Amino acid sequence: MSEERSDVLVLFGATGDLAHKKIFPALYAMVARGTLKEPVVGVALEDWDAKKLAERAHDGIKAAVGKVDEAVFSKLAGLLHYVSGDYRSQETFDKLRDAIGGHRHPLYYLAVPPSMFEPVVQGLEQSGGAAGARLMVEKPFGRDLQSARWLNRVLHLVFDEKAIFRIDHYLGKEAIQNILYFRFANSFLEPIWNRNYVESVQITMAENFGVEGRGRFYDEVGCIRDVIENHLLNILLLLAMEPPIGRDADDLIDEKVQVLKAIRTLTADDVVRGQFDGYLKEPGVAPGSTVETFAAVRFMIDTWRWQDVPFFIRAGKNLPVHATEVVVQLKRPPLAVFDQFKRNQGNYVRFRIAPEVAIGIGARRKAAGDEMAGEQVELSALDDDKDEMEPYQRLIGDAMNGNAQLFTRQDASEIAWRIVGPVLDDKSPPAVYKPGTWGPAEAMANFAPPNGWSDPGG
Ligand code: BG6
Repeated sequence: MSEERSDVLVLFGATGDLAHKKIFPALYAMVARGTLKEPVVGVALEDWDAKKLAERAHDGIKAAVGKVDEAVFSKLAGLLHYVSGDYRSQETFDKLRDAIGGHRHPLYYLAVPPSMFEPVVQGLEQSGGAAGARLMVEKPFGRDLQSARWLNRVLHLVFDEKAIFRIDHYLGKEAIQNILYFRFANSFLEPIWNRNYVESVQITMAENFGVEGRGRFYDEVGCIRDVIENHLLNILLLLAMEPPIGRDADDLIDEKVQVLKAIRTLTADDVVRGQFDGYLKEPGVAPGSTVETFAAVRFMIDTWRWQDVPFFIRAGKNLPVHATEVVVQLKRPPLAVFDQFKRNQGNYVRFRIAPEVAIGIGARRKAAGDEMAGEQVELSALDDDKDEMEPYQRLIGDAMNGNAQLFTRQDASEIAWRIVGPVLDDKSPPAVYKPGTWGPAEAMANFAPPNGWSDPGG
């Protein structure tokens, strides 16, 4: 594969939901920034043309940004092409080859279900379109270790690992990059960032809405596959990894993989599963489904740095707020010289990932008055820069430039499934929780970090 920037973007699944909601708004923003000038060829089964695709793109962009800048949009529309056809028919790929014309380094973006990966890469290979190309693939990357291995094998028959970009859009978020930056651009953290000072780590991803018409998809997946095995585990890796030796993609990914290798495979005791009341009435959900819409999971990392420090991840639909947050709780001072304080007070580092980006450091100080009694304060840096780049813009741009740093490598894509494997597809009914609560209270009663859960505010 060439090191050159990709000279055409080919979007499989161009008429789909992801393209509508995320990909076209990202392409529009890239055009506005001047970072996309290459042609974009949409491919899908629908009998559309470039004009119809542009209309659909306009609709998605409008929904995402509110007011569309028509001058920018017409530049994007000028880049659009469309090829209609079945992914299982060679004719589609021959038409695509003609549409791509003289461009020699396409980026193929597979925004299609994994069951379509095989016909698409085979079609590309047979039409001669794979040479010099890159391939970007959407999640879910398999549904367990075996299927992820199989997908990797299918892709590797045609593409080198270096040409494959597996997306986890969380890695493209500003706030997640900030974790990495904050950890390794500051020297004051390193002495305390280990089992000697850290008591526990907790990551909460709360969504205050349900499955939003995606019942059929969600019921095949569940919370652990949907967001824990990928998005949240990736956050854990950034918190737990050793400093990378350089800035190359492999330098970074090597360190993440070291952590993945050291994470213990989960057992049933490491997980509490919940399902919100009303889930079974969602369209597309199977009668009596035992799929979890909430999960709390404890991970243990067998390394010198992290031995015995629990890393908790908690995520769910229909929780009280929409927010994602990390709290790294430090141990208390060895003696309470002045006063006792609550277990989740004291010293911590809090990374607020959504809706705003912020970093806070929890500390005690003396409360004004006669007594040597304290109060809890948080020193925080809130990032209120509204010009935040959306993950898809960053990821598409990086893939076009061949920068793999924010993508999942083959080994990582498989080890993550090894870790969660035994707790997937649990057929026992999950504990039911009321929408708008922090999951199944009874089941969660004895399942918490030593300092308790820290519920993010909305
Ligand atoms: C997706 C999941 O990958 O991530 C959704 O399928 C979830 O269920 C979404 O809502 C959350 O992403 P974000 O970027 O809105 O936090």
